[in-house]
Amino acid sequence: MNGSKSTLVLATFMFMVVSQAHVFDITKFGVKPGGEISKALCDAWRAACNAPKPSKLIIPKGQFCLNSIEFKGPCKAPVEVRIDAIIIGPKDPKVIPKGKQWITFSYVNGMTVSGCGTLDGLGGAMAWPSNNPKKNAHHKKPCGLQYLLQNLSFNFIQNSLITGITTKDSKNFHANVMSCTNVTFDNIHIIAPHDSPNTDGIHLGWSKHITIKNSVIKTGDDCISIGDGCENLRIEGVKCGPGHGISVGSLGRNPGEKPVRGVFVKNCVFSCTQNGVRIKTWPDSLPGEVADMHFEDLKMDKVENPIIIEQDYCPHGACSKSKPSLVKVHKVFIKNIKGTATTPTVVKLRCSKANNGCENVRISDIHLTYHGPHGPARQECCNVRPIYAGKMVPPGCPIK
Ligand SMILES: *[C@@H]1O[C@H](CO)[C@@H](O)[C@H](O)[C@H]1NC(C)=O
Ligand SMILES: *[C@@H]1O[C@H](CO)[C@@H](O)[C@H](O)[C@H]1NC(C)=O
Repeated sequence: MNGSKSTLVLATFMFMVVSQAHVFDITKFGVKPGGEISKALCDAWRAACNAPKPSKLIIPKGQFCLNSIEFKGPCKAPVEVRIDAIIIGPKDPKVIPKGKQWITFSYVNGMTVSGCGTLDGLGGAMAWPSNNPKKNAHHKKPCGLQYLLQNLSFNFIQNSLITGITTKDSKNFHANVMSCTNVTFDNIHIIAPHDSPNTDGIHLGWSKHITIKNSVIKTGDDCISIGDGCENLRIEGVKCGPGHGISVGSLGRNPGEKPVRGVFVKNCVFSCTQNGVRIKTWPDSLPGEVADMHFEDLKMDKVENPIIIEQDYCPHGACSKSKPSLVKVHKVFIKNIKGTATTPTVVKLRCSKANNGCENVRISDIHLTYHGPHGPARQECCNVRPIYAGKMVPPGCPIK
């Protein structure tokens, strides 16, 4: 290498060092291997968040305990949080301050959470017995342990990317995404036993422009649930199951609910789930709206209800089915759905009789089979007249 070339290489190297993000490694903040990191993490976050240039907070490989943390913005510049460690939640949930969550990200604009770490909420034996005492009666309840929900929360996050993380056995909903805009979840793994109650994978509410892609979600409840006020959601390349599938709703119960508009579920696989894609609203409800639903290129493997609109959703008889749901469901596009079902009604559209039923429902290219004792596969339509196109197995509902 001649002189001028090596100068150039050196100059380039210097430039890269200077332009690189400022790094805050929590092991430089008084953390011992295996130790509890709440304070160190809080200090490191404050430093990273206050840095005037883009910065990086690193939780390196290893195992740490974490009672709770709030990564709170706004920050002065974009921050990356890199988690390569296994982070274990508290055995005693009482250490989480009242009204707080286990891990919260809030009010940050331009955040990346990355790494190959695991967030282990220590759900299992600790929390679920008290969550569902009947079902888990055989578990021994540790004495004096109080049940407390432990969620991973994203509140008011904008323009951010969450990638590569595994969360395991969180004590309740795994990830709550509230009032967020333009956030992508890529390559996320969420795992909880199939019989763990209320362990939704990701719950979205009041959020816009959210993408969830290339992810695996195995839980005891909904893989993804979508609450009111959500707009423009893309769910792509998600493997869901076991669990209850991808659900919009339930809606119509609370006053002031905002519409759900623009949900794209594409290229997803559902294995052994209760539902594939579902829209559920309460009967005898307050007004609301669900519009612009796109369910496309989905594969069902032994799914109870591959496609289901349930406007008479009334679990445990907690409502009156005699009055219809006032949530208007319209513009629903269902396209290229293939696979196997474990009940004969493979497409179930139980729309409300209010507001002219479901309107502008288009279904094309269905191939869903059922091989069982309850007769041939069929589609059911109630207060809806879908427009069919392409191949239809089983055939669409007869025009009445
Ligand atoms: C966890 O999330 C669920 C669902 O959004 C919510 O009902 C619950 O209140 C949350 N837990 C806490 C402690 O806030
Ligand atoms: C959305 O967020 C990403 C970062 O994840 C950013 O690169 C992009 O510019 C944002 N889009 C808009 C429209 O702000």
